[in-house]
Amino acid sequence: MQLPYNKSATLLKLILYTGKIFMYRFDPMAIHGGPNSEEGPGASSRVAHSAAGLNTTADYHRFTPIDLMSEFTICESFSDPASPYGIILEKPSSYGAMVGDFLVRMGLLKDRSAVCEVGGGYGSLMHGLLGSQETRIKRAYMVDLSLSLMKRQRDRLRPWGSRVTFIRGDIHELLGALAGIDLFIVNEVMGDLDTLTGIDPSHMPPEADELVRSYDLDIPDKPFNLNLGALKLVEAVCRTGIPALLTEHSCDPVIPDDMAYLARDLDLDACPREIKLHRHSEYTIRFSHLVQVARAHGRTVGTGALLDLIPVKKGRSLETIFRLRACDTHDHEIIYEILDHIREYRWLTIS
Ligand SMILES: C[S@@+](CC[C@H](N)C(=O)[O-])C[C@H]1O[C@@H](n2cnc3c(N)ncnc32)[C@H](O)[C@@H]1O
Repeated sequence: MQLPYNKSATLLKLILYTGKIFMYRFDPMAIHGGPNSEEGPGASSRVAHSAAGLNTTADYHRFTPIDLMSEFTICESFSDPASPYGIILEKPSSYGAMVGDFLVRMGLLKDRSAVCEVGGGYGSLMHGLLGSQETRIKRAYMVDLSLSLMKRQRDRLRPWGSRVTFIRGDIHELLGALAGIDLFIVNEVMGDLDTLTGIDPSHMPPEADELVRSYDLDIPDKPFNLNLGALKLVEAVCRTGIPALLTEHSCDPVIPDDMAYLARDLDLDACPREIKLHRHSEYTIRFSHLVQVARAHGRTVGTGALLDLIPVKKGRSLETIFRLRACDTHDHEIIYEILDHIREYRWLTIS
C-alpha cells in the first residue's frame, strides 16, 4: 500500500489504535526523488551550505539490500545466546534479552507495554526482547526505512504474529505521528542519520547555528561534524513525552569503573568522526550533546557505557587479553575484537 506523504500521520494513528497487522509503506519517492533520481542509490554527501557538507544514508537504506554482518553491530554480534562473541558473557544470552533486563532494571519496561523499535535491522533485538519479556510487551511496532530489512524483521518475528506491526518510513517524518506507544528503542541507528560535516565554527549553516545556540552545545574552534539527525531525533522524542532507550557508537565514550583498562588510547571527548562502510558512511555520536538537548526539554536523562547492559565475565581473564593484546588463540582474538569495539558504545535513557 502506498500513500501520499500528507496522509501518513492520520493513517499511522489509525494503525496504532486499531492494533491490526498492517504493512504501511510510506512512499519516499513522492517527496525525495526515487531510485532514478540524480543521486541514485547509495549514500550521498551533498553540499548543504557553502562551507559544510551533509552526509545522508537515506537513499542507501531505501534502495540497497543491506548486509548488517559487514557493519559488525553489537546487536548482531550477540543475536543469539550461542553467538561466538557470547564467550565474553557471564552467562549465554541474546542482546535483546540483555536489553530487556536493563529496561526492567531502569523501570522503563512496565507491564503490558507497547514498544516501538526504530531501525530494527534483522529483528534480532525484538526477537530476544519478546522472547524474554513476553508478558510485559503487549504490542511491538517496528519502524524502518529499508524494505529488505523490514522483510527480514517480518520473518524473524513471525512467531509473535499479529502482536507485531511493521511500518515502513523515515523516523524523522513519522515520529510526531506515533501515538499509543509506551517506549521507543533506537539501537545503533543514530549514526546513520544525517550529519553536517566540515562545519566552519565561524560560518555555521543555519541548522547547526540554531542547535548550537538553543542548547548551548560545546563546539571546537576548528572544523567539526555535527549529528544533525540524532539531535533532531532526540528533540522529537522529547516532544512526544514518551520514554526512550537509544544506543550508538560514541565519540565521547564512558568507561565502566571496574574496566578502566579499556580507556587505553581512546579519546573520551572527541567530535563525531566518519566510519566508512559498504557504500555509505556513518558518524559516531556525541552523547553529551544529546544529553544537553534532552535536559533542556525537562526530561530525566541517564547515560553510561553499553557494557552496563552487557554482563561480561568477572575476573582478570578479559583484562589480561585486552592489556596484552594476547591473540594467540581464536577465542582470544574474538574477545579482543569485541572488547575493542564495544568500549566506544554508549546508552542514553530519556524518561
Ligand atoms: C546499523 S542498522 C542497525 C540495525 C539494528 N538496530 C542493530 O542494532 O543491529 C540501522 C537500522 O536503521 C534503519 N534506518 C536507518 N535510517 C533510518 C531512518 N531514517 N528511519 C528509519 N529507519 C532507519 C536501517 O534500515 C537499519 O534497520
